[in-house]
Amino acid sequence: MERADAMVLFGITGNLAYKMLLPALYQLTADGVLDEPIVGVAKTDLDLAGLRSRAREACEAKHDKVDDAAFEKFAGNLRLVAGDYTDGATFDAIRGEVGDAGFLTHYLAVPPSLFATVAEGLAKVDLNRNARMVVEKPFGNDLESARALNTELLKFFDEDHLRRVDHFLGKEPIEDLLMFRFENMLLEPIWNRHYVDNVQITMAEDFDVADRGSFYDANGTIRDVVQNHLLQILALLAMDTPPSIDARAFIDEKWRVLRAVEAVAPGDVVRGQYDGYLATEGVREGSTTETYAALRLRINNWRWADVPFYIRSGKALGTTDLEVVAQLRTPPISFFDGAPEPNLIRFRIQPDAGVTFDLLAKVPGRDSTRQVPLSVDFTKVLGPMEAAYQRILTDAMTGDPRRFVRFDLAEESWRIIQPVLDLPTQPLPYAKGTWGPDEATTFVPGGWHEISTTFD
Ligand code: BG6
Repeated sequence: MERADAMVLFGITGNLAYKMLLPALYQLTADGVLDEPIVGVAKTDLDLAGLRSRAREACEAKHDKVDDAAFEKFAGNLRLVAGDYTDGATFDAIRGEVGDAGFLTHYLAVPPSLFATVAEGLAKVDLNRNARMVVEKPFGNDLESARALNTELLKFFDEDHLRRVDHFLGKEPIEDLLMFRFENMLLEPIWNRHYVDNVQITMAEDFDVADRGSFYDANGTIRDVVQNHLLQILALLAMDTPPSIDARAFIDEKWRVLRAVEAVAPGDVVRGQYDGYLATEGVREGSTTETYAALRLRINNWRWADVPFYIRSGKALGTTDLEVVAQLRTPPISFFDGAPEPNLIRFRIQPDAGVTFDLLAKVPGRDSTRQVPLSVDFTKVLGPMEAAYQRILTDAMTGDPRRFVRFDLAEESWRIIQPVLDLPTQPLPYAKGTWGPDEATTFVPGGWHEISTTFD
């Protein structure tokens, strides 16, 4: 883990850089975390002054207030190399810009089809040595293409010098899952098949695919968010306690639990497509790409055997929420009237982060119980959180691998969903603003738990 002396940012004029990376890099500069040169690379007509004003615009679009002095410092660190990634001259120019900077982080915010081209270009001017390479998602399109891409990249960077981004791993409320599990003694004794009945992971988005039609249509929900973000959440929820605190032990445990997840059979998936999707620009005629998916996953190990983990995600649903609900088993005997409701442990990830325990209390004056929430809103109690990309970019500079996806984890994730990629059947239709196709609502025996939309 060597701290980089400069960052080379490929795709600096692209969408991701504008929306996420530039505002996060500025914030890190303002916070005093980052003060290294950032050499932007892009096929662009902009000159350095143009890039700086685009960066200013990007920061203003993201942050309520941009501090002039901090921005000047950030802009002063920006450099620009304009050129094509297939042209050797571009890499000579990068070499010239970084000079004898020392250790480099190459950050690739470019389409995956260019990863190998860039890696090779860097190698030709020796910039793959004394350097690490960070690549954005998606990493491959299925198990085979992920392996092929990895083989290509390994020609130029070894695994210790490769980092695959999953920006969800930079989200603080997702790290809170680990806090809850491993820093408190409350959960771990019950965090197993003896006490947990099922786990439900919901990632709902109320917006549709908008102008991302052609990207989305080639991917679908399972590739877009299940293979990466949601299986990473599942790994954090279900992993065993690492035997030591080092990064490798932690990542190994995530791998071990993914290894125990059965590949999903087509019968364990409900796929949906919202009405009107086919009319979106870039979407193929008669496309069978799903915009909604519900999956049942089985983890074949001693801790979780027979505890179903359900995942559902979709576009154009009624709400934008990311929440995990663990349903506990009910007591074998009840001393009050009626069957008791199960206790629920809700990890709220976004938009408001926090945790809610749904416990039972006695209804005053009656011999029966009622569910009552015991809640903490993290922002109210702990203050604002860092943006995910601030953490990802910091780690890209320091090299800490914990918040990245080691290849064997990506590989397991592809293995798990491979049987349900590109199913030829037409997904079930659903109306925008609903919870997806009707068939998905009966998918969980006992039903999905309602999402707690707010703490108030
Ligand atoms: C991206 C997906 O990886 O994650 C998008 O491609 C999705 O479709 C997005 O909307 C969600 O990320 P966040 O951080 O905005 O919740």
